[in-house]
Amino acid sequence: MAREMQHRDRPHVRTYIGPGKAEEINQLALAHNAQLVVFDNDLSPSQQRNLEDIISKVKIIDRTGIILDIFALHAHSAEGKLQVELAQLNYLLPRLRGMWQHLERESQGGGRMSDRIGTRGPGETQLETDKRIMRRRIQRLTAELGTLRNNRSTQRKRRQRNSVYSVALVGYTNAGKSTLLNALTGADVLVEDKLFATLDSTTRKLNVDHQKREIVISDTVGFIKKLPHQLVAAFRSTLDEVQLADLLLHVVDASAEQMDEQIVAVEDVLKELGAEDKRQVLVFNKIDLISESEQLRLRKVYPESILVSAANCIGLDGLREAIAEQIRKSSVRLHLKVPYSRGEVLQRLHSVSLIVSEEHTEDGTNIVVDVPQADVDDYASFMVDASTPVDS
Ligand code: GTP
Repeated sequence: MAREMQHRDRPHVRTYIGPGKAEEINQLALAHNAQLVVFDNDLSPSQQRNLEDIISKVKIIDRTGIILDIFALHAHSAEGKLQVELAQLNYLLPRLRGMWQHLERESQGGGRMSDRIGTRGPGETQLETDKRIMRRRIQRLTAELGTLRNNRSTQRKRRQRNSVYSVALVGYTNAGKSTLLNALTGADVLVEDKLFATLDSTTRKLNVDHQKREIVISDTVGFIKKLPHQLVAAFRSTLDEVQLADLLLHVVDASAEQMDEQIVAVEDVLKELGAEDKRQVLVFNKIDLISESEQLRLRKVYPESILVSAANCIGLDGLREAIAEQIRKSSVRLHLKVPYSRGEVLQRLHSVSLIVSEEHTEDGTNIVVDVPQADVDDYASFMVDASTPVDS
C-alpha cells in the first residue's frame, strides 16, 4: 500500500527510524487502513515495542520475523520443523512483553486471560511462567535437534564412505533450483513461485553419463541478501549439504533485474559457510526470458558458465556434461585386476566410478576405471599399473 524510506547516519536507538518518521508511518497506516507494517531491517525487541507504542493499531514485523513466518509455512521434515520452531522461540523470547501487552489489550474485551489462570507457579507473573515454559521447550528442541543431526551425519558418513559424488544446488531464492532438480532427475520437488519455497534439502539420484554410476544431487534453501545470523545457525543442517558437496551448481536467475547483486549475495553466504573454494559451476537459468544478445553477453563475461532453461528443459545435456567433466577432474584412472572371489569390489566400482573398459580373463576381471581421488588407496592391492590423473 505504501513504502517509506529514511536516510540516517545511524539507527535511532529507541525506534530505529526517527520518532517523527514513525509517527508519519502511523498516520499513513491509518489512512490506508493497513494491517501490517514490515521493516526490511532487524529491530531489537525494545525498538519493536517502542514502535508498537507509536504505530499502535497495526501489527509490526521485522525482517527476521517475516523470514521465519515464511520458513514456518514451508517446513516439511521433522528436522526442518524443529529448526523453525527453535528459531521462532529464540526470536520470540525477548519479545514476549510486547506480545503480552497486546494480549492484555485484547483481553479487556474478550476475557481470554481466564484461560491461563492456574498455570503459574507461586509468586510468578504470567510472563515469567511463559518464559519458563519457552526456555524448557528450547532446551528440549535443542536436544532433539542434536540427536537428529548425529543421525544425519552418520548417514552422510556412510555416503562418503561409499564415495558417492555429491552435487548441491545453491542460489538466490526463486532462481529455479527446485525446477532444475526436477528437470534433471524427474523428481517431484515442490516448485512454487514463492520466496523460500524450499526449506528442507532434498536429495535425489542423478545420472550424467548414461552409466550405472550413482551421483546424488541436493536442493538447498534459497540464499538471501542480509540473511540474519540466527537463521544461518538455525538452518545449518540444510546448509551442511553445501559444505559436504563435491560440487556446487550455483543457479542464477538470468532474468532477474538484480542478477549481479544476487550472484554476490550467494557468494557471500558461501564464504560465510567456508565453502567458497569448492568446485563450482555457474548455471544461468530462465534464458527463455532474456534476449539473444544478453545470452551472448553472459557467455562472454562468464565463459565457463552453462545457460539453461529448467522449465523448458533447454541446455540440460550441456549441464550434465559439465558435471561429468567436473567428476573427471577429481578422478584418477586406475588399471585393476580384480579376482572373481572379490565380487563386492567390482560391484562398488560399478556404482561409484566410471568404467572405461572391462574384460574378463581366466584369473579375474581386467578393468580400467576412473575413481574418486580419495578412494585410490582402497584399490592399491588390485593395481596393475601406477595410477594416472584422468586429465593428463
Ligand atoms: P526457493 O525455493 O525459493 O529457493 O526457489 P527455487 O530456486 O527452488 O526456485 P523454483 O524452482 O521454485 O522456481 C521459482 C520460479 O521460477 C517458479 O515459478 C518456476 O516455474 C520459475 N522458473 C524456473 N525455471 C524457469 C525457467 O527456465 N524459465 C522460466 N520462465 N521460469 C522458470
